[in-house]
Amino acid sequence: MKDLMSKIISLCKRRGFIFQSSEIYGGVEALWDYGPLGSLLKNNIKNEWIKRFVQNRNDVVLIDATVIMHPKTWEASGHLESFTDPLIECKNCHARYREDQLPKKQCPQCGGKEFTPPRQFNLMFKTFLGPVEDEANLTYLRPETAQSMFTNFKLVQESMRFKLPFGIAQIGRCFRNEITTGNFTFRTREFDIAEIEYFVKPGEDEKWFDFWVNEWEKFFLDLGLKRENLRRYEHPKQVLSHYSKRTIDIEYKFPFGWSELAGIANRTDFDLSQHSKFSGKDLSYFDENSGKSYIPYVVEPTLGIERLLLALLIDAYYEVEGGRTKTTKATKELETVLKLDKKIAPIKIAVLPLVRNKPEIVKKAKEVYQLLKPHFTCQYDELGSIGRRYRRVDEIGCPWAITIDFETLKDDTVTLRYRDTMKQERVKIKDLVKVIDKKLKE
Ligand code: GAP
Repeated sequence: MKDLMSKIISLCKRRGFIFQSSEIYGGVEALWDYGPLGSLLKNNIKNEWIKRFVQNRNDVVLIDATVIMHPKTWEASGHLESFTDPLIECKNCHARYREDQLPKKQCPQCGGKEFTPPRQFNLMFKTFLGPVEDEANLTYLRPETAQSMFTNFKLVQESMRFKLPFGIAQIGRCFRNEITTGNFTFRTREFDIAEIEYFVKPGEDEKWFDFWVNEWEKFFLDLGLKRENLRRYEHPKQVLSHYSKRTIDIEYKFPFGWSELAGIANRTDFDLSQHSKFSGKDLSYFDENSGKSYIPYVVEPTLGIERLLLALLIDAYYEVEGGRTKTTKATKELETVLKLDKKIAPIKIAVLPLVRNKPEIVKKAKEVYQLLKPHFTCQYDELGSIGRRYRRVDEIGCPWAITIDFETLKDDTVTLRYRDTMKQERVKIKDLVKVIDKKLKE
């Protein structure tokens, strides 16, 4: 199964999904850049999330807050004190590890068995506000987006005239100076979190917790993840985060083992109470029905966009020994098909002239490409045999390929080929936008 990871990493680099950050300088550990296809894929995942949880609901709104916040935020949230991992150092080669991720207590680099005692290492990246680098100007890059949803709670509630329950959603860049990295993009030092803080009346939190666990799981299934590759993991009470009454992780069966994909936490009234205390601002909610004020409870579904993207790539990856087509020379080759859901596929349509030495066919293909481009992400490809080109677009998960051939010149129809079934049908050029648009919405 390890092999599958190397294949995914290689595909990502070869086809422009994911590159190592600053590669020409030898790269930087746990930092990755999203290339031309990776960035489109990432945007599509984010857009699906926004469509589903913001656009299609009337109780959740989106915000876009800053990465750098008032330093007191992190005191109030408990991150300064508790957002730590136990760091140990090999006494022989000085490599550093997270103690809890080295169960055998043997250095993977040199085999050494002696380590320094663990010290709590804070994962927040430090920075300074303004030109003077002193304690007074010290602040942090956010390790989660959640806190700005709490600090904006009152402003959102009042400006939107919301009554409980309601949610604030955000997708944003987060930074964690992770000690242990690896497994490609699974654990990185910079990544996007998509999360909702859903504010509810105390006493209704458990019901809403169950609701969000189900919603989160449904989202993953609807994006194409296979049910058998997902499972729930309930955090035992004694290891819950400092703010949580209950946490369930949704785990994915990665090639390196079942690991956290996303989580749902019942954060109670911890965060709003803390921010009330530290800011001196009243963050309670006046309930018109009961005539009482109280601090709402918060249920938080959260997920890492890059982690989800990795799971989606792994889940969609298929190889066919000897190829799927039995009619072309490529029969003996290994064929890769990325069966990404059409909603998130970075390129929706490939436009392919059957041959490139017939100017009328090439001209027509370029016209079709220009016709479709304003409506869908398209790729034009005329290099190599048509079979080879089909395989190239299958490998990047493009759901449909359009071929312009000799018949096109006679009747203005093209071949529409489906990635997963390789089925082909003829469609009139003038109907293409309508037909594909309909298929995308099916
Ligand atoms: N506000 C709650 C929170 O931040 P978390 O479990 O620490 O919870 C949320 O992070 C999600 O972010 C995780 O479920 C995971 O998908 C993703 N994530 C966490 N650390 C990550 C890292 N170092 N690299 C990539 N994704 C990460």
